Amino acid sequence: MSRQVLRTAVLGLGRIAWQYHIQAIIKHDGFELIAVVDPLMERRLEAAGEFKVAACYAATEEMYAAHKPDLVVIASPTAFHKSQILEAFEHECDVFCDKPLALSLQDTDEILAAMNQSGRKLMVYQPHRGTSETAAIKWILESGLLGEIYMVKHAISNFDRRSDWQAFRKNGGGMLNNYGAHYIDQFLYLNNAGFSRMFCELRTLVTSGDAEDMVKAIFTAKNNVIFDLDINMATGQPIQPWFIGGNCGTAVFNPAETAWELKYFIPGEMPEIKPQNGMAAVNRVYGSVEVIPWKTQILRQSDFPPLDFYAKCYDYYAADSTPFVPVAETREVMRVIEQCRNCLI
Ligand SMILES: NC(=O)c1ccc[n+]([C@@H]2O[C@H](COP(=O)([O-])OP(=O)(O)OC[C@H]3O[C@@H](n4cnc5c(N)ncnc54)[C@H](O)[C@@H]3O)[C@@H](O)[C@H]2O)c1
Repeated sequence: MSRQVLRTAVLGLGRIAWQYHIQAIIKHDGFELIAVVDPLMERRLEAAGEFKVAACYAATEEMYAAHKPDLVVIASPTAFHKSQILEAFEHECDVFCDKPLALSLQDTDEILAAMNQSGRKLMVYQPHRGTSETAAIKWILESGLLGEIYMVKHAISNFDRRSDWQAFRKNGGGMLNNYGAHYIDQFLYLNNAGFSRMFCELRTLVTSGDAEDMVKAIFTAKNNVIFDLDINMATGQPIQPWFIGGNCGTAVFNPAETAWELKYFIPGEMPEIKPQNGMAAVNRVYGSVEVIPWKTQILRQSDFPPLDFYAKCYDYYAADSTPFVPVAETREVMRVIEQCRNCLI
């Protein structure tokens, strides 16, 4: 039996479509790029020239009038996702949508209801599930070297005064939707336990728009692991990107070396410790001054190959495998994002 080729249309010819989706579609022999849609003429001409796409349209209606794609990849600004997903389902197309799925949890639920009613497939592009970084963190968490994990702390810091559509709330902009959707999904994927408590502060600091460019959030997972997330676009100096804490050691990421540095002890090698008696610290000494038998280990991130996301897409859309990003997990990301916005009293 010949292998199915998914006839694919891409909506939006911006950063993520150009740098990722179209390149991945062209590279994978299970996909055929049959059409693109973007309201900007110069981008359509560019796509026709660079990717040899003959069918370039200014609007989705024109594209559907001429084609019936198997799959529509939505890489347009977030505010268009919902209407474009519903339209694709009406035309009996499956959808691969970039994150975040929609502007709100209510829109998410309407999309999921339409998906169920139409019987079409939907998956959201959450690339961080497939990165080398995620694979390395998974290895660290599962190795047991750090003992019982109590915290995963992640910081994305930069100085970036946004001025594009993502700087504005009405467009679904802001760093909670933008980067938050990635890292909340990544943590939920890695931890697999769901959150029981959360705290979130959003600030608008240096952006030219009205959407937040600083997010400080703390989530406690049901298995008690704390996920501490900083997204800060107003920093002159970097915040340490990763800290993973367990009761037998820690891991940090060294960006200069693109490597993880682990420092831990083996519980059985630790000297015995006895509580002091009385209410006077012995010898007026601060701390326990014991010598810890630390071990160190370096993990090169390059030793953890990234996943091919479009291979996962093919498995789901063409071969009926379980989706790599199930919609229930996408709904949870959207619910958490909405809860973060509601944290203000
Ligand atoms: N998964 C990721 O790593 C990742 C990275 C970047 C962006 N994104 C998401 O992808 C989406 C697009 O972001 P971007 O950074 O590529 O935006 P962008 O501003 O670079 O590009 C948006 C493109 O969509 C076009 N467009 C505008 N209205 C349209 C419409 N109605 N139909 C079709 N195209 C339309 C614009 O002309 C432009 O070419 C957003 O939802 C964003 O959150 C995801």
